[in-house]
Amino acid sequence: MKKNLKDLYIDFFVEKGHKQIPSAPVVPENDNTVLFNTAGMQPLVPYLMGKEHPYGKRICDYQKCIRTNDLDEVGDSFHHTFFEMLGNWSLGDYFKEDAIKWSFEFLTKVLNIPVNRLAVTVFAGNEIAPFDEESYNLWLSLGIPKERIVKTKEDNWWPNLELPGLCGPDSEMFYFRSDDEIPEVFDENDDRWVEIWNDVFMQYNHLESSEIVELKNKNVDTGMGVERTTAILEGVNDNYLSSIWKDVIDKISEIAKKPYDGNEKSMRIIADHIRTAVFIISDPAGIRPSNTDQGYILRRLIRRAIRHAKKLEIDINSNFEEEVAKIIISKYEDYYSEIKENKEVVLETLKNEKVKFNRTLEKGLREFEKVSNKDIDDKTAFHLYDTFGFPIELTIELAKEKGLNVDVEGFNKRFKEHQELSRTASKGKFKGGLGGQGEVETKYHTATHLLNAALKEVVNKDIHQKGSNITEERLRFDFNCDHKLTDEEKKNVEELVNKWIKEDIPVTKEEMTKEEALKSGAECMFIEKYPDIVTVYKIGDFSKELCGGPHVSHTGELGTFKIKKEESSSAGVRRIKAVLE
Ligand code: ALA
Repeated sequence: MKKNLKDLYIDFFVEKGHKQIPSAPVVPENDNTVLFNTAGMQPLVPYLMGKEHPYGKRICDYQKCIRTNDLDEVGDSFHHTFFEMLGNWSLGDYFKEDAIKWSFEFLTKVLNIPVNRLAVTVFAGNEIAPFDEESYNLWLSLGIPKERIVKTKEDNWWPNLELPGLCGPDSEMFYFRSDDEIPEVFDENDDRWVEIWNDVFMQYNHLESSEIVELKNKNVDTGMGVERTTAILEGVNDNYLSSIWKDVIDKISEIAKKPYDGNEKSMRIIADHIRTAVFIISDPAGIRPSNTDQGYILRRLIRRAIRHAKKLEIDINSNFEEEVAKIIISKYEDYYSEIKENKEVVLETLKNEKVKFNRTLEKGLREFEKVSNKDIDDKTAFHLYDTFGFPIELTIELAKEKGLNVDVEGFNKRFKEHQELSRTASKGKFKGGLGGQGEVETKYHTATHLLNAALKEVVNKDIHQKGSNITEERLRFDFNCDHKLTDEEKKNVEELVNKWIKEDIPVTKEEMTKEEALKSGAECMFIEKYPDIVTVYKIGDFSKELCGGPHVSHTGELGTFKIKKEESSSAGVRRIKAVLE
């Protein structure tokens, strides 16, 4: 079998001395500034800042990413809400010369792209950093003519000049995707030139105060989109016609008994949204459809896919979503074990949400027909949401199809009045900033270990972590348990955690091999996700967990632990939300 892009990429960089790291979860584990990972480097922030990575200084991976800020654009030929990003990193090791040389070698020798189809951009210089002459000369020396090298200020700074966090000048590579004659001079604004890869020279930290400081490390961070590059290599102008999507689209076309031609938009939306839903549901964070945060995005995706299935006159009561999801699962399960392990949960969740929405969808659409002889006011939009489960974005989409407007501002006001919308869903979270680890989160991290240990002592020694999420305001901990905790159990857990806090026990850290860690009985959620050498955090003789940290040095730093809520998370899994006061 011909190797696919992901395998070729990883093989190439492993051969150049990189270690492959597993993709991090798509829901960031300890970073509440974003809902989803939007780039390969995001889970690596602590290491780019200088923390030692257990795999060393050269790493590579394919990372699950989700970007939902342009969700409404899905339906065209190249937008996707979920995508995989290939990346290779130097954590204070090689810099521009090797990064560029290897990018060029991979593109021209492994992917066999003719040099004549390539063009690049480099950083032109500004008040922070000078013109990137080194990169410019490297490209020239490799055979990219100067007519094909454009210098820009703003487009060659990643992520951009405004966002705080890690940043630096970059050099982007473009491919000429057209049968037209290739122009001698590269114009980065000509759509026929498509960006395929970005080498970022990540040397700075842009502080909230807007000061820009040099990092200890000179890092390289690169990113190549799998979907887009695969389409290019296969010579198709529509990503959904590449081998990544083709059988998914064929299946939808078969179920709908309609050709792709002429029905592209709805078919692309169904394919894209179900794929993203599969990845969100199977992620270790255990996200399920809800009205806040990631759960709301998941709900919107599933409901929008169903609405478009209906548009294609697919029988919603059939198991169409399952048939589509199964093909998607079969394409990814060998790459992501969580997809394989959670297959049943994924199918069940999709179905449950479909059944829920389908109960009111028909009536809601009829209601919409009735009221849509004019612009949709706030009251009607809220009624569609509240009574028929129409996310506002669905109402907007339906209205747009009829050339009508929706009073979104009015809707939002009502929404706020009527719902206790989680504060964390504030718009800051959708911006895609790059977060760090605060002091408060560190405390919650340690509190999570204490809670895990206390549950074992008080409730059942076979309790294990099934999921964890930490924000500045609380911890959330999912664990296997066959019953709702009694008030007494909750009280005893709380008291035990607080007793340990009062005893001000040191939190110690030790590195060992994975085997040693497991033999020593250390707790661990996804053993295959850890490198060969792991860090084990120990508290007293009651808690031992494989964990990347960070943690406080003594339990006395935590304050008072309080359980706020205990509820069901999914079958056989309970969820505790707790705070430190
Ligand atoms: N972090 C860079 C990007 O996402 C490579 O484009």
